[in-house]
Amino acid sequence: MPLVTSTKMFQKAYDGGYAIGAFNVNNMEIVQGITEAARDLEAPLILQVSKGARAYANHTYLMKLVEAAVEETGLPICLHLDHGDSFETCKSCIDGGFTSVMIDASSKPFEENIALTRQVVEYAHDRGVVVEAELGTLAGIEDDVKVSAEESSYTHPEEVEEFVSRTGCDSLAIAIGTSHGAYKFKPGTKPQLRFDVLEEVSRRLPKFPIVLHGASSVPQEFVSKINQYGGNMPGAIGVPEDQLRKAASMAVCKINIDSDLRLAMTASVREYLALHPADFDPRQYLKPGRQAIHDMVAHKIVDVLGCDHKI
Ligand code: G3H
Ligand code: 13P
Ligand code: ZN
Repeated sequence: MPLVTSTKMFQKAYDGGYAIGAFNVNNMEIVQGITEAARDLEAPLILQVSKGARAYANHTYLMKLVEAAVEETGLPICLHLDHGDSFETCKSCIDGGFTSVMIDASSKPFEENIALTRQVVEYAHDRGVVVEAELGTLAGIEDDVKVSAEESSYTHPEEVEEFVSRTGCDSLAIAIGTSHGAYKFKPGTKPQLRFDVLEEVSRRLPKFPIVLHGASSVPQEFVSKINQYGGNMPGAIGVPEDQLRKAASMAVCKINIDSDLRLAMTASVREYLALHPADFDPRQYLKPGRQAIHDMVAHKIVDVLGCDHKI
């Protein structure tokens, strides 16, 4: 099966009240851990690649790893550019075989966001590629860009119809209180997503797929394990999984998860190395790292996204 776009996945997810997981990939063990979990659970899947991942691993290596995963698992996989920051980056991924791109012009003024998104949509649609756009600004760190909580802003629902109709984008990422990275909320605070904003957006955009970025939950057990085995992470709080499950039952069709995979892999590699101090074979410590990714993705698919057995 060749790579697919997210169009059919999103239609089924919208109607079925679940969401597709979009997991970030950076190397072979991450690709294998994610795709083997999705295969075991017969879950549709989006693998996404950031600008940083392309700089780290190289476009061609990532492309070939994902093609190998498609061949090995037989899964319908959508390969997506995460947070494309320019027309050129999007064009390079479209020309290079991705089936979906995000143009993230959310930090630009409304009219500039529309113009750049429209330019990417025209190029992408001519080539059978779908486009995710963003309105509203999430706090946190993506690539080298850090957005403080004060600079972040919720999506304004009254802008979404004009934005979608003038750009022609295929899905829309909105800001309802999630943020990137492990440090999403101040320790001691109670995270609460703005479901009223999500409801109003979906009322204005019937049947239109909505995307949530910054949706890691930062399980405490992994932070504790990292710290137990030599790490020094300060208190970190993520998005409660029951709130993500609720979003998945509404108009949210794509949920982005990266930090939780990093935490799971790092915790298990640290544990392995601490318990086997004489070991120096990367295969020995990357094996539990890959297994930790597998287990985290399986948990997300079943308990958060609800997309198991939906192929
Ligand atoms: O949203 C950002 C993703 O977690 C990707 O992170 O830019 O460090 O690869 P990265
Ligand atoms: P997290 O940092 O919460 O995993 O978010 C990932 C993301 O939004 C990738 O685009
Ligand atoms: Zn993101």
